[in-house]
Amino acid sequence: MGNETNSKTRIFELLSESGSVLSGEKISRELGISRVSVWKHIQKMIKAGIEISSSAKGYQLQPDPDSLQPLQFGGWQELIHHFSETGSTMNEAAILARQGCPDFTVVLAERQNQGRGRLQRLWTSADGGLYFTVVVRPEITLNAAGLLNLAAAVDMAEVLKTGYRIAARLKWPNDILVEDKKICGLLSQMEIEGGQIAHVNIGIGLNVNNQPEIDEPGSVSMQRLLGRHVGRRDVLISFLERFRHRLNDFDEAVLIDQWKANNSTIGRRVQIATVKESIEGTAVDLDQHGGLILEQTDGSRVTAVHGDCFYN
Ligand code: BTN
Repeated sequence: MGNETNSKTRIFELLSESGSVLSGEKISRELGISRVSVWKHIQKMIKAGIEISSSAKGYQLQPDPDSLQPLQFGGWQELIHHFSETGSTMNEAAILARQGCPDFTVVLAERQNQGRGRLQRLWTSADGGLYFTVVVRPEITLNAAGLLNLAAAVDMAEVLKTGYRIAARLKWPNDILVEDKKICGLLSQMEIEGGQIAHVNIGIGLNVNNQPEIDEPGSVSMQRLLGRHVGRRDVLISFLERFRHRLNDFDEAVLIDQWKANNSTIGRRVQIATVKESIEGTAVDLDQHGGLILEQTDGSRVTAVHGDCFYN
């Protein structure tokens, strides 16, 4: 950590620990720097979006559970790359990943002006939503890597269920729905080098305090479901902790079972559309690679490996 970042981190820690007003003099003594330097650091922190009030008595941190500023992320801080606005966090993450960024680097944006959905669709990314891409470098087989998207969806659904009592269900391949309305979408990009996984970038768009229903009537946000503003940072940290824990000891069979236990697709009549074709049938199972097995009207079975899934 550089001196500048170090001082800001220390100031942030002191203000958080104190929980009340802290004088500039006390901070300057603790850090061994002048009061003017303290003031300058605090001005930069305020400019970066951290809410610190100042008065004649000193400085006070305003608790803001919605802030996505890296300084607010505790042990995750150095892995967080924050953008007020960018085209797509997928593009920023791809650059960092190719430059060799560490495992679990997270790129997040308050807004995206070219947010990407699956199948070349646009992902509307207005203020208030949680838009991020996490770069992972797991030591798993290529086969298992193809399941990471499902794994991230299972973990995010679990965060919504256990942390917020939201009845989240998984829709094949990578959506999270609540009462058949979309609350979260995921997409991933994998790069392979010499037959090994170089990195997998998993992009997640979660409707938190945004109003997705304006553009997409079939969608819903956490705020609408809970009737209150939701702090995005806790949601993100809970997800990251869960996902990191899973990847430390990735078990494909456990994942498939968890997906099956929490999905809303199996048992329904569905249509799976790809750029080339469209198939219909009743979803009957998920195979070990994450493919959806459909039973067609003549009793034959086909496995869909990708595509858009519509409930009939
Ligand atoms: C889908 O359901 O179509 C997938 C949507 C994925 C959206 C997220 S938002 C963060 C990341 N950056 C992007 O441009 N897309 C993903």
